[in-house]
Amino acid sequence: MTKTLRCAIVGTGAIAHAHAKAIAAYPHAQLVAVTDLSRESATAFAAEFDRPRVYDDLDALLAAEHPDVVHVCTPPVVHREQSVAASRAGAHVIVEKPPAPSLEELDDMRRAAARAGRELVVVFQQRTGTAAAHVKRLLEDGAFGRPLIAQCQTLWFRDPAYFAVPWRGRWETEGGGPTLGHAIHQIDLLAFLLGDWESVQARLWRLDRETQTEDASTATLTFASGAIASVATSAVSPRETSSIRIDTQRATITVDHLYGHGHEHWRITPAPGFESEAAAWALPATEEPSGHDVLLRDVFDALRSGAPLPAVGADPARSFELVAAIYASAAEDGAVITPERLAAHPTHRRGFASPVTDRR
Ligand SMILES: NC(=O)c1ccc[n+]([C@@H]2O[C@H](COP(=O)([O-])OP(=O)(O)OC[C@H]3O[C@@H](n4cnc5c(N)ncnc54)[C@H](O)[C@@H]3O)[C@@H](O)[C@H]2O)c1
Repeated sequence: MTKTLRCAIVGTGAIAHAHAKAIAAYPHAQLVAVTDLSRESATAFAAEFDRPRVYDDLDALLAAEHPDVVHVCTPPVVHREQSVAASRAGAHVIVEKPPAPSLEELDDMRRAAARAGRELVVVFQQRTGTAAAHVKRLLEDGAFGRPLIAQCQTLWFRDPAYFAVPWRGRWETEGGGPTLGHAIHQIDLLAFLLGDWESVQARLWRLDRETQTEDASTATLTFASGAIASVATSAVSPRETSSIRIDTQRATITVDHLYGHGHEHWRITPAPGFESEAAAWALPATEEPSGHDVLLRDVFDALRSGAPLPAVGADPARSFELVAAIYASAAEDGAVITPERLAAHPTHRRGFASPVTDRR
């Protein structure tokens, strides 16, 4: 465990800052190089973060630096090309959500990483934090009994000006609407807690915004555990919340937050007759909120030691499949989509463009 990971970032926009801060906070990683379409952006970014070398393109960076880890922080349309290039150059890839604009592209990225014997991690930082780990462990241990019914809400507010930006709200340039861009985080946390999914039925709605994609969606998910979940997503909700509620045989578990959670956002309410269990279910005394820093630290630890990826960095495709299944179901007028059906469906693997019911 002595190796220092040499990290590079492609795409030095908004989210790259969270990556650079997490690299700086980790004692055995160093940001050695960055690149961006805009040399100006990359140079300014480098000046902020200990002056990594700046390259005009990713190929030049990979050839010169042979980084151990490439952080892909660009828009999703270029994730495949850049992730595959980084894997071929022998780097582990840490790519921002959503991992790609289609399952087919994610397949290519996973194949390239597997061929190179390197890891591919998708950043879903909502899985992290001591509360999520604690609740997941108790659910898996059966301490709460069986999970029965769940709610998963991403009710955000994006005004008309947000969608006026030309690439937003269009299938070709954004790949999907708020289900893909926003709700994927909460859906990922839901699947992190409840495990493998069995089926999805969904509809896409256009309620109030000038978009080609949906501005809201509704879905019913079933999980292998037997649990069912109702998933509501919106970009038109004035009081914003990101929330999950899971009713189990012995307790109700809730997390209500917006973009990240600490212990104060979680609540475990025992069912009548299970009040005496509450002390055993209490969140751990030491708190770590969710975030990129925690995710990257745990992933870096695994990369350095050669251990399997931690749960917070594993299963790169599960929540992406759930989101793909929501669009696939909408494309088939609310049909039941199973993992098998999604896996075998060429169109649904190629992109998410689906009919949206206009109710404006
Ligand atoms: N995990 C999270 O909470 C979170 C939050 C915000 C964004 N994101 C994701 O991060 C990714 C980037 O989003 P952002 O908000 O930082 O966008 P951004 O527009 O702020 O930054 C993207 C950067 O990539 C550069 N770029 C574009 N194409 C490139 C190319 N071909 N080669 C090199 N550089 C290129 C742009 O010049 C820009 O500097 C997206 O996938 C987004 O969904 C994740």
